[in-house]
Amino acid sequence: MNIKGKVVLSMLFISTVIVVFWEYINSPLGPVFWCSPSLNIDVGDGSSHPGWWFPSWFSNGTHSYQGDEEDVDSGRGEEDEELRLSDWFKPYKRPEVVTMTEWKSPVVWEGTFNRAVLDEYYAKRKITVGLTVFAIGRYLDHYLEEFIVSADKYFMVGHKAIFYVMVDDITRVPLVELGPLRSFKVFEVKPERRWQDISMMRMKTIGQHIVGHIQQEVDFLFCMDVDQVFQDNFGVETLGRSVAQLQAWWYKADPNEFTYERREGSAAYIPFGQGDFYYHAAIFGGTPSQVLNITQECLKGILQDKRNNIEAEWHDESHLNKYFLLNKPTKILSPEYCWDYHIGLPSDIKTVKISWQTKEYNLVRNND
Ligand SMILES: *[C@@H]1O[C@H](CO)[C@@H](O)[C@H](O)[C@H]1NC(C)=O
Ligand SMILES: *[C@@H]1O[C@H](CO)[C@@H](O)[C@H](O)[C@H]1NC(C)=O
Repeated sequence: MNIKGKVVLSMLFISTVIVVFWEYINSPLGPVFWCSPSLNIDVGDGSSHPGWWFPSWFSNGTHSYQGDEEDVDSGRGEEDEELRLSDWFKPYKRPEVVTMTEWKSPVVWEGTFNRAVLDEYYAKRKITVGLTVFAIGRYLDHYLEEFIVSADKYFMVGHKAIFYVMVDDITRVPLVELGPLRSFKVFEVKPERRWQDISMMRMKTIGQHIVGHIQQEVDFLFCMDVDQVFQDNFGVETLGRSVAQLQAWWYKADPNEFTYERREGSAAYIPFGQGDFYYHAAIFGGTPSQVLNITQECLKGILQDKRNNIEAEWHDESHLNKYFLLNKPTKILSPEYCWDYHIGLPSDIKTVKISWQTKEYNLVRNND
């Protein structure tokens, strides 16, 4: 099908969606634009769940993972063949790096996991994984398309994924053709004036969307920054109840060097002598209920700081670090999952799964 055909088809599809979901669209959290693999008529493959992408508010609670607070990282407790850590995780394969935390959570490095075992396990359970991304102002034109195109290719390959794209102007959203197991939903959010507030209010918006619909639609959820690009498979080995990302610049540093918030007046305060790792706010995730807790607690801290006229040094990231200090993540991703090539490529970075984009702050940020 030629481009023109696709565009016309897309327009037809979009207008149908708008009509059909008028009620929903009018609700404050409704998707303002919605794209799905059905655009790929030419790739059409009848075997792949016709209509799976129909939003789950039409189907009857197929997502039984969320709410399973008791299970560690793998979902349904009643399943006979529950996966054990040793079935897929071989920490001794990477003796030169930290592969297990003091509280016995795996730190996932390339070489330590058996993705095939996990793929089979999660495929049987027909999981859906969500991914939220915010593209506001110039971040939209600058980074969104590359992010989505690369996520389509490398994020949770072989499993259903829903991309939740939050923008301040839907008319500038690129039309991206997605693979058969992927769909995306676009939402318009009210832009904040300062980029610091955009990144902090992200916590509020994610929480609202989890409560409003995401918790019924996915089993696991990741929240990512848009100014990065997938380079290799970001697969099911990353799934967990609460997942944190090691920040590339700090993974070898001593906790006393970390750029935690050090002022007692901030809710994000972490005293010297405390702290496990420096986590990167560019990637965090977990089950929807856990991510909801993360976003609610971070938002509480942010609002408390606002009342006290203090802003944490690294904004939402400072609050996220405080959260993960108090609530230890059940899985940690090595810096291979979010690498900055400006550091170079040390030998312990085997396969980069996501890399930072060049941060062109002067181009994309409105102030400071
Ligand atoms: C949805 O679930 C309810 C309660 O489990 C059941 O009574 C109803 O028939 C289901 N509807 C559909 C369409 O499956
Ligand atoms: C949510 O966060 C609070 C504050 O850190 C913590 O006390 C609570 O245990 C968390 N709840 C869950 C379900 O993790």
